[in-house]
Amino acid sequence: MSRKVIEIAAAALVIGLCAAGALMIGAKAATPAEDDAAIAKSLATMLRAGRTVISRNQDKINDPKLGDKGLDGKTVLADAVKIYKDTTGVDPASIDANSRHGKLIRMEMESIAEVLDGTQQTINRQGVGFKGFIPAVFGRQVSEAFGRRATGLAEMKVTAPPKLVRNPRARADDWESAVIKDKLMLASWNKDAVFSEVAKSKGKDAYRTAMPEYYAQSCLTCHGAPAGEIDITGYPKEGAQVGDLGAVISITLYK
Ligand code: HEC
Repeated sequence: MSRKVIEIAAAALVIGLCAAGALMIGAKAATPAEDDAAIAKSLATMLRAGRTVISRNQDKINDPKLGDKGLDGKTVLADAVKIYKDTTGVDPASIDANSRHGKLIRMEMESIAEVLDGTQQTINRQGVGFKGFIPAVFGRQVSEAFGRRATGLAEMKVTAPPKLVRNPRARADDWESAVIKDKLMLASWNKDAVFSEVAKSKGKDAYRTAMPEYYAQSCLTCHGAPAGEIDITGYPKEGAQVGDLGAVISITLYK
């Protein structure tokens, strides 16, 4: 590299650093959109924490010999909160209960407890192995319970690309479908990135976020190959592969 080129590169680096600095300063001022982004991320983190608890206890839930699984609402919520804390460094109980974030995260936590309390008969039934209570079902039921609590304020859904959707209640709406097709499915999409924008939902302006998730090996016993073979849940497998876009957590925060 000639000296001149090095100088230009150095100048470009300085400009780049300044731009990054300006962005960081900008990020510190809590503009409403940043607040929304943080809330959406927090709600998704709690949902994932809950799913992890169900996933870790799946063998126990599926054990036909065991009656009471000890997985009531309170217990599962406490475990989910612990995972949320480990992930974020924040105790959700410390989030101001009067703030929008505080209200929504509490509604979500109540929903987690409600879903588990409502499924006790199913998961504690002796003599039955697979009971159909899996992370996806938990996630849908929590999203639905949350939606009832947060009516007019927020919504949450775990959806997927249209050809993968099993439960019609998880079907993507127009905005979600367009984001999946035009953003998340692009080969150039950064797999760690979420997509957010202010858009309409049910005719109202909302801050909407779509968070992609990709199939892991563990998903493929049900969603993998051979396509069409019936899985343990009674659905035909989709023939998916590790790394395919398999899920989208969609969070809607109404303006
Ligand atoms: C034991 C089989 C099984 C495994 C393993 C499994 N799923 Fe599913 N998945 C299902 C069933 C059944 C549904 C429909 C649940 C319902 O009724 O809402 C579903 C639903 C979903 C949905 C919601 C949209 C829809 O299709 O209704 C997503 C997203 C999803 N699964 C992704 C995943 C991912 C990602 C993994 C791995 C981390 C995974 N699944 C592992 C069986 C499975």
